[in-house]
Parts: sequence; structure tokens; C-alpha cells
Amino acid sequence: MKRCRIVLAVLFPALVAVVPSHAKEIRIGLITPLSGDVKTFGESVRNSFLIAVEEANARGGVAGMKITYSIQDDKNDATEAANVANLLVNQQRVKAIVGSVTSKATIPVSDIIQAAKVPTISPTATNPKVTVADGKRKDYMFRACFIDPFQGAVMAKFSRETLKGKSAAVLFDASNDYSKGIAEVFRDAFRKQGGKVAAFESYGKDDVDFSALLTKVKASGADVLFLPDYYNKVGLIAKQVQEKGLKVLLVGPDGWDSPDLVKIAGSAIEGGYFSNHYSPDDLRPEVVAWVKKYREKHGQVPDALGTLAYDATNLLLEAIRKAGSDDPKKIREALASIKDFKAVSGKSTLDGNGDSIKSAAILKIEGGKQKFVKMVNP
Ligand code: PHE
Repeated sequence: MKRCRIVLAVLFPALVAVVPSHAKEIRIGLITPLSGDVKTFGESVRNSFLIAVEEANARGGVAGMKITYSIQDDKNDATEAANVANLLVNQQRVKAIVGSVTSKATIPVSDIIQAAKVPTISPTATNPKVTVADGKRKDYMFRACFIDPFQGAVMAKFSRETLKGKSAAVLFDASNDYSKGIAEVFRDAFRKQGGKVAAFESYGKDDVDFSALLTKVKASGADVLFLPDYYNKVGLIAKQVQEKGLKVLLVGPDGWDSPDLVKIAGSAIEGGYFSNHYSPDDLRPEVVAWVKKYREKHGQVPDALGTLAYDATNLLLEAIRKAGSDDPKKIREALASIKDFKAVSGKSTLDGNGDSIKSAAILKIEGGKQKFVKMVNP
């Protein structure tokens, strides 16, 4: 062992200096979709999780412990997500988890970690059911993002007031809690703002031909089409909207955020607006420094998923530091008590439900790029 440390010290002096070989370790899990239909979400989240963990270990770990981790792919599938959550809590016995990324995967994960009492923070899952089920708070579950009742209402108001939409059509995936939940919020909020909802139609998760639905949208006379789904589906629908010669303004939520949206939809998504969690064009020094750091490492600007994953991981590490322990119960208590955490995506306070109260950014797709329009406060 001694010889091994000497060899290591020669090869990696910095590493040995900051993390003594006898240091206590804390093992945490990451659940993220590294394959399947939202692969870019999963990759951004993994990249940023690793940056946060490496930075903390380089500073000597957290609460005197070196952070080790286990990364699991949920493939953006509810069953797969439940399997990997079970693996992390029951077999690998991690002390805390970051994840998962989509609401669809995170809702089943939240029930498992709650039963096992393993504190978990999702960077990005926005559906209310992630932290509360049937009116009951899952008190080991937290998130670093706002929730859908907020972003759905933000986009309904923006569609009415700024885009001057009179009549909206909504198409959503009935099998996806995120898609269905935000579709309903948008519908109700658009009506409340004095707008008409002329079509409210659902499709299935494997559907690829939307022509019958788009015929209904056309007949409805809607001037706004709200598409609450992830970038792959949105890209496909947008193309068919263009092929049909439908003249509607495309509007959506955070699920649009992927460099692949424009690759799939091309010019069909031009002029579309969506809500997101941050903009890389924000000039706050935290954002500028973070964008530079991520870009140097990964050669691209971090999307909202990457930024929220960095924030979520740092929130969890801050809670471990405050707890001064690897005891999941103490980490949970520390997480629940965090106020005004300086996250890159904006100041973060976890409310009584473990949800973050945050501003939303509205972005426009222009020239194939995301252009910052404005911030909306809660
Ligand atoms: N909010 C989405 C969900 O709950 C996930 C997501 C977050 C997608 C941020 C893109 C950007 O499923």
C-alpha cells in the first residue's frame, strides 16, 4: 500500500495531495438518460455532474469525505428508471442521488428513494408529482428547477400578451406525465388570459404521423400551436406542420432544449418560442464563468440541463457539507434548510415541497440558434 502511494504520488502528485488514501468516502448516485430518445439531456447532465464532483474532490472532498459515484442510464423509460433506482439504493447503498432528468423517469424514482429514505435531487424534472403525490409530500425528494404550473402559465401569458395569440391548439403525449400535465396547465391558463383553446388533442408515445391531428388543428383556426414534449417529437411535429403549410406560431416548454431540435426540424422550428431555466447569454458573472468552464471542457455551450445538473450537484454537496456527515437523514435535513443558494441558473431556495422557486427564461429560435428574449419572475 505504501509503495502504491509513493508510485501514485510520483504520477499524480496533486491527486494524492488532496485526497489522502485513508480518507473516508461518500458514494452518491446519478440517474440520467444516456441512451434513448432524449440522449442529449442525459449527456449534458452527466458532464456537469462530473465537473461538480471533480471540483469538490480537488478541493479535498466534502465534509472530509472523498466523493465516489455510480452513474446509471434510465433510457428515459419509467421501468428502467425504477430498476436503476432500486440498484442504487438497495444494492449499491448510495447515500444520496442526483436524478433523474425527465419527469417520466423521476416520478417512479421518487417513490423508490422515498421508501428507502435516500435524499435525492432532480436537476430538471418539473412535473408536480415528482415531489408530491396525492397531496402528500415525499420529503426525501427535491429539485433544482421550477415546476410546470409555473412554466405553463408563463408561456400562456406570453402567447396572449406578447405574441397576441387569440386561439390556441395543444398537442400532447397522453402517456407522458410531463407532456400531459403542462398541456393542461397551458390550456387553463390560456383561457384564463381570455384566449380560446380551439383544439386539445393527444397522441401516443410511438406515433410518428401527425397528419390527422394537424388537419384538426388547421380546421380549428388556431394561431398558436403549443407543443409540450421533448425535442425529438417536437422536431418531427414541426416538420409536418411545415409540410402541411399550416400557419401557426409554435410555442413550447423546456423539453425543446437540445442542440438536436434544430437538426431534426430545420427551418420548420424557426420563430418558435419556448420557456427554459436559464440563458447562456445572461451576463451575470456566475453564468459567464460557468459557460467558459463548460465550453473549455466540452467544446459547446452548456444547455439548461447541464447548468441545472451543475447546480443540483452543488446543492447536494452543500447539504452534505452542512450535515457534516454521510447520514442520509442529516443530508435530507440540510437540503430542506438551504436558503438563497447561489446557483448558476439563479438564486435558489427550496420551498416546503422541495421545489425551487426560480425565474424562467423565454427563448426564441432564430437563425437556427436560441436567442434570449426575457426573464419572467415567479
Ligand atoms: N422538465 C422536463 C421534464 O420534466 C425535463 C427537461 C428539463 C427538459 C430542462 C429540457 C430542459 O420532463
